This record gives sequence, structure tokens and C-alpha cells, in this order.
Amino acid sequence: MATPVTRRRPDPAAALAQYRRRAACYDFELAPFEPVRLQAVAALHLQRGATVLDVGCGTGLSFPLLHGRIGAGGHIVGIDQSPAMLARARQRVREHGWGQVQLVCAPAAAARLAGGADAALFHLVHDVLRDDAALVNVLRHLKPGAQVVATGLHWAPPWLWPANAFVLLAALYSATSLEGLARPWDKLAARLDEVAVREVLGGAMFIASGSCRAGRRRVKP
Ligand SMILES: C[S@@+](CC[C@H](N)C(=O)[O-])C[C@H]1O[C@@H](n2cnc3c(N)ncnc32)[C@H](O)[C@@H]1O
Repeated sequence: MATPVTRRRPDPAAALAQYRRRAACYDFELAPFEPVRLQAVAALHLQRGATVLDVGCGTGLSFPLLHGRIGAGGHIVGIDQSPAMLARARQRVREHGWGQVQLVCAPAAAARLAGGADAALFHLVHDVLRDDAALVNVLRHLKPGAQVVATGLHWAPPWLWPANAFVLLAALYSATSLEGLARPWDKLAARLDEVAVREVLGGAMFIASGSCRAGRRRVKP
């Protein structure tokens, strides 16, 4: 049987099962990592009225921060393939009465979106970051110069073995393949300009940012 250790690429069916199991307790489990989300959203440098794609949005934990920056005139497009996670996101949107949030239940590689978004967030979505087709599809819906931020787990230097023990356990729990954990941002970074990567949480996590290249084929707004 394939496991995250033996798989060479993400497995969408395994990811669906993983997040069907986790949906009910996901927000509680994520609480210790919320400071990383704050930094990730800040790195998007969102303007009032902006449209932002939240790729692999899960239960919508980033929505309050995103909404706080873009205001009532902005738009959030949350994309996630897990109906169980999106049901929780939908409930969050309803409870806050946000009118400008669109939820798209689809794999990031196949999501049909309107073009011309100002920014994209890939927060804790290792499987998406290792999926070329997903990156191509999301990036072609961004404006040239759009800000892109990605975060996630990554291997710390070998001597930081406690950090790496955490990375291993957390990745087994939250991703379907360990492939690319040394530089999870590299496929995305190859498609962006002005890339910057920094380590957080003692080297166990990263925040990568960059801007969308001009000149690639994109979907018109
Ligand atoms: C660790 S959760 C992160 C959720 C959210 N970004 C957050 O910050 O809390 C990973 C999410 O990615 C979603 N996901 C995994 N693979 C995906 C894919 N190929 N396309 C869309 N969503 C995907 C899962 O369903 C899950 O909701």
C-alpha cells in the first residue's frame, strides 16, 4: 500500500480521505500555528478592494485576516477539493455575513475561476505546491505583478533533529507525499519573480513570497 513516504507525488484521493477525517477538529489542531498565518497574510501586502485566491483554503481560517485587509469591497476566492473542509468554510462565511467570498470545490489544477486576481495565498498546502498543473492553473488567473505567498513544512538542517521529528510527524498527518520537503517552494518559485524565502518556527516551516511574472498566458478578467 502506498504511503506518504513511498509516494512520489500527491494523491488526491488520499488527500480527500485525510481531510474528511480531519475537518471536524481542524481549527482546533491549527491553533498553535496561527502566528505563521498572520505573517503569511501580511506578506501578501493586500490593498483595500483586492481580489485574493486562497488556494487549499480548508475551513477558511485565513478568511478573517484576508477580509480585514481587503475590506467589504474586496473579494476572496477559496479553492479546496475537500467538500468536508469547504462545508466548514461555508459555515464561517455565513456566520460572518460576508457577501464577497466565493467557494470553489475542485482540485486546484482543475478549478474554473475568473481571471485577474491581485494575489494568491498557498498556506500549508504541500500537496498543491508539488502539483505543477495546480500551480499553472492558479497562476494563469493572476494579474502580472500579483503577490503570491506560500507557507508550509520543510526539512530543517539535519542537526535540528527535534524540528525534523516534528516536520515528519506533521507532514505524515497533513500531506500525502513527503516529496519536495527539502524545498517545497521550488516549483512555485520557478514561476515567480522577486522570490524571497524565510524560515520560521525554528526552521521547521517556511514563508516564500514572490510576484507573478508578466508575459505568461492568462485568463482574462
Ligand atoms: C493543511 S490544510 C490547509 C488549509 C488552509 N489553507 C489553512 O491554512 O488552514 C490543506 C488543504 O488543502 C486541500 N487540498 C489538498 N490538495 C488539494 C488540491 N490538489 N486542490 C485543492 N485543495 C487541496 C485539503 O483539502 C485541505 O483543506
